Amino acid sequence: SKPKVFVTRRIPDAGIDLLAQTAEVTVNPEDRTLSRAELLAAVADCQGVIGLLTERIDAEFFDAAPQLKGYANYAVGYDNIDVAEATRRAIPVSNTPGVLTDATAECAWALLFAAARRVVEADRVMRSGDWQGWGPLQFLGQGVRGKTLGIVGAGRIGTAMALMSRGFDMPVLYTSSSGRRNAVLEDRLDARLVPFETLLAEADFISIHAPLTPDTRHLFNAAAFARMKPTACLVNTSRGPVIKEDDLVQALKDGVIAGAGLDVFEREPAMADGLAGLENAVVLPHIGSATIESRTDMATLAARNMLAMLAGQRPETCLNPDLFAAPAGRTWT
Ligand code: GLV
Ligand code: GLV
Repeated sequence: SKPKVFVTRRIPDAGIDLLAQTAEVTVNPEDRTLSRAELLAAVADCQGVIGLLTERIDAEFFDAAPQLKGYANYAVGYDNIDVAEATRRAIPVSNTPGVLTDATAECAWALLFAAARRVVEADRVMRSGDWQGWGPLQFLGQGVRGKTLGIVGAGRIGTAMALMSRGFDMPVLYTSSSGRRNAVLEDRLDARLVPFETLLAEADFISIHAPLTPDTRHLFNAAAFARMKPTACLVNTSRGPVIKEDDLVQALKDGVIAGAGLDVFEREPAMADGLAGLENAVVLPHIGSATIESRTDMATLAARNMLAMLAGQRPETCLNPDLFAAPAGRTWT
């Protein structure tokens, strides 16, 4: 009989069609995220699960799915997965890197420009009927060309975001948690690897592309904002908890920094108190990867990963590849 795969939320058909050639696929019929109890009940007899960044994939989840041969995250970020626990149980897990790199980098630029040029605030005034005609001092923002761009987390997405700055002649600074240099950024942009404090002090625009880990949680807090320029704008398309959101609200209120463009939040779908009322914050509902192309490619990549795991093979983009490192019975020494 065909293996059973549960998909926790409807994804583009291309992925479902691919899975359905080999597996018996059930898709959550509701247009909403499942409750924890619904999720745990739905996976009870499944060999495979494709899930979302909003679902916690941990010991309790694995206990609820005793036949599981693999879990495929429909996201590049995987802070929702206890990878160590999956590995202990010899269950492969995968994510969707690469296919959403440009979409997310472009979203960061949309937020950068929206924050710099006060696009959303100005749009609101236009719609309100309050605009009385052109004025020399209306909606003055920050210029972008020639300003310094700071990339926190120069992985795939951070690198793509930085490369897109070439038309704007921006000096680029970046940080690296591993301390490793990014040869692409250094060769193509003369980017400089700097300590975090230097990036905070020198960048005019800071774009966050670091994964959420214990080291990056609340990396941007009141102390960090105090080191930034009062004209600086902060952009976040990674994970909300990298910013201490209450501290950001205070910094934006007090003019400690000039603006923020946020696609992600500390307690999604909620925003910190006061954030919704701030004109110098642009806020998006976590749409970084939301292009037709990217979401379709995420669906087919997640499906290919799932099919590989059901066949006992290493998925293309595996988060615990050591499970497949040495064939059983052999050791590599
Ligand atoms: C989205 O946030 C993702 O990690 O893919
Ligand atoms: C990290 O997840 C990246 O793709 O940059």
